[in-house]
Amino acid sequence: MGEIKVRIKKLRDELELHNYNYYVLSAPVISDREFDEKMKALQILEEQYPEYADPHSPTQRVGSDLSKEFVQVAHRYPMLSLSNTYSEGEIRDFYERTVRLLNEPFEIVAELKYDGTSISLIYEDGKLQRAITRGDGTRGDDVTANIRTIHSIPLKLRGNGYPQLFEIRGEVLLPWAEFDRINKEREEQEEPLFANPRNAASGTLKQQNPAIVASRKLDAYFYYLLGEELPEETHYGNLSLARDWGFKVPDVVQKFDTLEGVFNYIDYWNVERKNLPVATDGIVLKVNDLRQQRNLGFTAKSPRWAIAYKFQAEQAVTRLNTVSFQVGRTGTVTPVANLEPVLLAGTVVKRASLHNADIIAGLDLHYGDMVYVEKGGEIIPKIVGVEVESRPAAANEKVCFIQNCPECETPLVRLEGEAAYYCPNESGCPPQIKGRIEHFVTRRAMNINIGPETVEDLYEAGFVKNVADLYTLKVQDLLTMERWAEKSAQNLMDSLRESLTVPYERVLYALGIRYVGETIAKRLASAFHSIDLLAEASFEALTEVDEIGDRIAESVINYFSNDLNREMVSRLKEYGLQMAVSEELLANRSEKLKGVTIVISGTFSKYSRDEYKNMIEQHGGKNSGSVSGKTDYILAGDNMGPAKLEKAAKLGVKIIGEEEFLNMLSE
Ligand code: IVH
Repeated sequence: MGEIKVRIKKLRDELELHNYNYYVLSAPVISDREFDEKMKALQILEEQYPEYADPHSPTQRVGSDLSKEFVQVAHRYPMLSLSNTYSEGEIRDFYERTVRLLNEPFEIVAELKYDGTSISLIYEDGKLQRAITRGDGTRGDDVTANIRTIHSIPLKLRGNGYPQLFEIRGEVLLPWAEFDRINKEREEQEEPLFANPRNAASGTLKQQNPAIVASRKLDAYFYYLLGEELPEETHYGNLSLARDWGFKVPDVVQKFDTLEGVFNYIDYWNVERKNLPVATDGIVLKVNDLRQQRNLGFTAKSPRWAIAYKFQAEQAVTRLNTVSFQVGRTGTVTPVANLEPVLLAGTVVKRASLHNADIIAGLDLHYGDMVYVEKGGEIIPKIVGVEVESRPAAANEKVCFIQNCPECETPLVRLEGEAAYYCPNESGCPPQIKGRIEHFVTRRAMNINIGPETVEDLYEAGFVKNVADLYTLKVQDLLTMERWAEKSAQNLMDSLRESLTVPYERVLYALGIRYVGETIAKRLASAFHSIDLLAEASFEALTEVDEIGDRIAESVINYFSNDLNREMVSRLKEYGLQMAVSEELLANRSEKLKGVTIVISGTFSKYSRDEYKNMIEQHGGKNSGSVSGKTDYILAGDNMGPAKLEKAAKLGVKIIGEEEFLNMLSE
């Protein structure tokens, strides 16, 4: 094979891998900049040597986000991307090229580059008709139902003067605060965390269930209009009008007629962007005049009238000292790099995520290496590369993934198709055992008044080896331990006794069966009224239940096929925990609200929100998080949000108070 051909193949293979890491695993191992540089190198080679063209080359595709379940529709205008630059020099090149091509004065509009997922909205007669994701640029998913849940997107436009038919493009974003809130919640529910707001936004938009979308407060910023009869002949003019029609068009958009102004804008936002509520990753420059834009036209992939300048992700170089392998409570082993402390984006970084074995191998890490640490949109900094030049000739030992559990020595296993290794020794591996006990006692589970430190102490002292042991604790035992006195011991006893009244569905959640979170526990409890029925349920019976898929069904079966689990459950039953839906609850169950969807809003005086939610479900109704065409009633307390009120009025949804709701049930 010729040298060129080898180079092309190598670049294609590398790019394919990085593409996979990025889009499929959401765990890139190189920076966007390095990726773009490699892509550029490949593009140049392919242009120079057209004889090696290949329709499957990474240059021939735009990352697709098509998914099976949504209806796919063609874009009226393709959704192109922007060419990326990383230096002032490249911006100068863009500017000078534009001067040359236009040969007349022009204005540049500068805006922020929002780091979310792009969306195209079609409006007809002032009404939102359709929302389509980028897809492969030519066809995308129809996600209108999900987009409708975003409050900042107008369903009907304000004022008038908008074209009869037009398209507006923008970015769907998950604000930082909401991102943090959701991740905290996911952590509590043992669900994998979102790596950054971009992944969270695109993942949310692809949810099949708009109610989930509604519960995550997405936002959308708009930056581009398309249509045959746009009112203004400038980009800036149309954006300003779009703002009047009700779109969120950021007011940081600014016009310039010199490059100097543009550079000042970049310098300013490079710092100031850290104070914005959403993630940004660069600046976009666009020629303002639409006639000039048409003259400049497009290349196959991007407009010649626009360019993106990407901010330098904050990086630091430091030494990799050691790697620790941590075992989580579901047994997953996570590698963590221990670094020589280094200042990065205002905080001292000592540890960085290494994600999984593939990533470690891909980086070719050796102990003592000088590594590049980057803080992108991610919460935890990550290692993105190794400074190979500074590695001594007699290199230190290579970092290898461990083969045995660092806590219990059990050989690790890797499930087919999954990146993570985990320790299968559920019943004997200390962090897994302690993790399950910690989960069992949490407020939303059994609400037992102890924290992780106490769990650790009780475990170390040998008093509690599984959750059932909690109920055999005696005051005398506790008093033999440090920091325990008569009063605190008695408090724990009281708390344990109280937990005997915790309803069955919460006990089920507390058991910590993999994938059985609060909602699933409720579904299971109402389909199988006792733990004995659940333990005997077949795969078919389980998957027949609403929201229970193969994965959850398998996990439940797996749980009860373990004798240790069965034994523990039967001990818990013996100690008096609720292992069946209470008679009272069964007696009070009805179908009065069958087929009725109710949204709860505001604050209440007679019962709590959770209690109302339970009542709705107990009577066969459905509780939903957001008002839509399917909502039958809004159960409104005090301080109901004005947005919900307005929406209810618009959709003609009936609003009822506590009294009225309770009457409905007692009728
Ligand atoms: S203009 C024809 N403006 O960046 C180009 N895009 O690589 C139309 N983006 O797909 C896009 N902020 O998802 C434009 N102010 C902005 C943007 C922006 C973020 C995203 C968008 C686009 C990608 C371009």
